[in-house]
Amino acid sequence: MMSLLLKLHIFTSFIFILLMLYKLILLFSNKEKLATFLSKNRAYNTVIDSLMLLSGIIALFFSPALKESWFIVKIILFMILLPLAIIGFKKQKPLLVVISFIGFVYLYGISETKSPVFRSARSMLKKQIQQDIEVSDPIAEGKKIYTLTCQRCHGEDGNMGVYGAKKLSESKLSDAEKMKLISEGKGVMPNYSFMPEENVKAVVDYVNTLK
Ligand code: HEC
Repeated sequence: MMSLLLKLHIFTSFIFILLMLYKLILLFSNKEKLATFLSKNRAYNTVIDSLMLLSGIIALFFSPALKESWFIVKIILFMILLPLAIIGFKKQKPLLVVISFIGFVYLYGISETKSPVFRSARSMLKKQIQQDIEVSDPIAEGKKIYTLTCQRCHGEDGNMGVYGAKKLSESKLSDAEKMKLISEGKGVMPNYSFMPEENVKAVVDYVNTLK
């Protein structure tokens, strides 16, 4: 349900940006056509805008990302860009529209990479794990990986359960099934295919200690 909502949000955001690009091109090339396009397609535009906003707002309430910097940048920027775009199109000010368009594309990039500077969260995580993990005790190693990687969704004790994830202490999955799920991901849970098997094994061993 949650992953469907996120997919809907990403899809409508993408359409929103495409539509904006089209309107932007019309603003520069053919203002009359823009006016006709706007009045003819008002209903479709409203549907896309509302779906994007609604799915975004509902997802917001369940998001584990609320405290992360890329997410805060995203929300603030969105609240600046939206009025800018609306005023730009209403008053036909190309500069405003261009600025807000670039802003929206940047927003899309932030959301995809989960980083204000587009450094992919995955590659940072991978580096961090490689740097930090030099522990000989596998449970301690698993705990480190867990804190770095899994805690934001599953919570310190494994019971936070964002997006409807089961409490880890009550999981009925076997070790092999857990390892498969971690490597391949499922629904909202990302895959950790970059993690070497021994890291995955260590984190599963740690998860099994959660009560
Ligand atoms: C973005 C949030 C998120 C992150 C990060 C995350 N998970 Fe999950 N996890 C989920 C969700 C959501 C589910 C439920 C998936 C489903 O069934 O559709 C889940 C399910 C699981 C399950 C299966 C529980 C069960 O019995 O059904 C295990 C085990 C698990 N996660 C372990 C981990 C481990 C270990 C990590 C870190 C390497 C991790 N998760 C990182 C969100 C996350």
